[in-house]
Amino acid sequence: MGDPFSVAASALTIIAAAIGATKALNETVKSYKGRDKTLGRLQGGLEDLITTLHSLQEKTSKLTHGVIEEYSEMIKDTAYHLEVRLQRIDEKMEDVAAAHRTTSSKLQE
Ligand SMILES: *[C@@H]1O[C@H](CO)[C@@H](O)[C@H](O)[C@H]1NC(C)=O
Repeated sequence: MGDPFSVAASALTIIAAAIGATKALNETVKSYKGRDKTLGRLQGGLEDLITTLHSLQEKTSKLTHGVIEEYSEMIKDTAYHLEVRLQRIDEKMEDVAAAHRTTSSKLQE
């Protein structure tokens, strides 16, 4: 991870993957939105995250060599925080899915 260009390239790959995953999640949430307040809020969070990711992607791809060097720590940090944030969204989705399973099984009783 020493070479600033590899760092930037890795960051761009992670960002692109995160945008894809977040958009897919956004689409999934769409079908449940309205039935569940938590999901409505989650969608708001996803929209914000996608916007942040797009601006991060734009900034990262515009960085020149010297700037990349200067920012490589920040990029690594951002990628790490992004991972943590996506993990939290994952956990939230798990909670929501679990709640839905509980509700469905109660309805069947
Ligand atoms: C997220 O989903 C909503 C519909 O539920 C859509 O209008 C919006 O464009 C999507 N956002 C992105 C960034 O894909």
